[in-house]
Amino acid sequence: MAINVAKARRETPATAKLLHFNNAGAALPPVPVLAVQIAHLRREAEIGGYEAAKEAQNRIGQVYRSIARLIGASTKEIALVENATVAWDMAFYSIPLQRGDRVLTAEAEYSSNFIAFLQRQRQIGFSIEVIPNTPTGEIDLEALARMIDGRVKLIAVTHVPTNGGLVNPAAEIGKLARQHGITYLLDACQSVGQMPIDVAKIGCDLLSATGRKYLRGPRGSGFLYVRKEILNQLEPPFLDNHAAAWVAADKYELRPDARRFENWENNYAAQLGLGAAVDYALSWGLADIAKRIDALAAGLRQRLAAIPGVTVTDIGRKKCGIVSFVVEKKKAEDIAALLRKRKINCSVSSPASTLLDAMARRLPDVVRASVHYYNTEDEVERFAAQIAKLAQA
Ligand SMILES: Cc1ncc(COP(=O)(O)O)c(C=O)c1O
Repeated sequence: MAINVAKARRETPATAKLLHFNNAGAALPPVPVLAVQIAHLRREAEIGGYEAAKEAQNRIGQVYRSIARLIGASTKEIALVENATVAWDMAFYSIPLQRGDRVLTAEAEYSSNFIAFLQRQRQIGFSIEVIPNTPTGEIDLEALARMIDGRVKLIAVTHVPTNGGLVNPAAEIGKLARQHGITYLLDACQSVGQMPIDVAKIGCDLLSATGRKYLRGPRGSGFLYVRKEILNQLEPPFLDNHAAAWVAADKYELRPDARRFENWENNYAAQLGLGAAVDYALSWGLADIAKRIDALAAGLRQRLAAIPGVTVTDIGRKKCGIVSFVVEKKKAEDIAALLRKRKINCSVSSPASTLLDAMARRLPDVVRASVHYYNTEDEVERFAAQIAKLAQA
């Protein structure tokens, strides 16, 4: 069913005053998310933090069920953490790697992930190898198939890179990983909430996500999915008395579920807000959300590409709601600042955020305009008109 945009905007009051194209940074939270968060903070102040958490115990349990439903997992496969980086790091640092192993990744891999590869590489001595792209910009599956041998122990790629508009073929990569029994870690930070995600269809072993981006949840919330079949093989890099039980003077036992990747202290207001955001996204339907986002982004790319002096830098046969571009006569940072003065939000993505991709394509800072289903065709036109003006000045 088509998204009821008027309702979505009513439930996102800031849209009346703000043109928000920074959904890949942090989307605007809808009223129900904010209400749940504020209500829990109030209860903490009224009855005490521990008491409020106990009171909300069943609703916190429901958050796991909602996320499991969102991605087609079971509740025991979900860990709630504070952001996508923690989710990804907890997963990556728990994967046993040895000298001589090979780790395959993508050209547009996110900076934090790559820094972690480099750190562990220095400690262990495995090789990090970048899967080439097809001429259209996504991961080349044939090249990936040719790279696989018995020494490849991990495929870790980003589903939707931080800029570039691209959607990598996650499920096709999953098929190859499964065929060869290779652990597959998917960074779904920018894809969860903007398109349907089904971990069984994708075939990943581990998936990391954040709350504040396309899910429209609170800042400081995120989750990790760990496939139950590999859970017992993974020991998280950090443990506490929530992740494990201290059972004898010289012994601890890990939790049997994905919560071994969590720790004890939590921002429960944010977790409840995340659950509300997931329920809210499910109530719209992820296929309908994706359809509207794709249409808005395609319209935006088309309009921007028609402006003299503007180059859209997006790649990939399959694209999403993230639109990246450069303006010949203006720095990306200046464009974002000038738009901000006109109550228009977008962001700047620097080469350092996806260094290999930026070097390969000689990209400078790019402007990143990311649309959501609550944005409108009129906003797309207004945004493009502002860029046309700025491109001339
Ligand atoms: C592809 C990708 N992965 C991971 C992250 C990190 O997410 P978080 O800030 O929630 O840790 C980002 C943030 O922009 C991202 O774009």
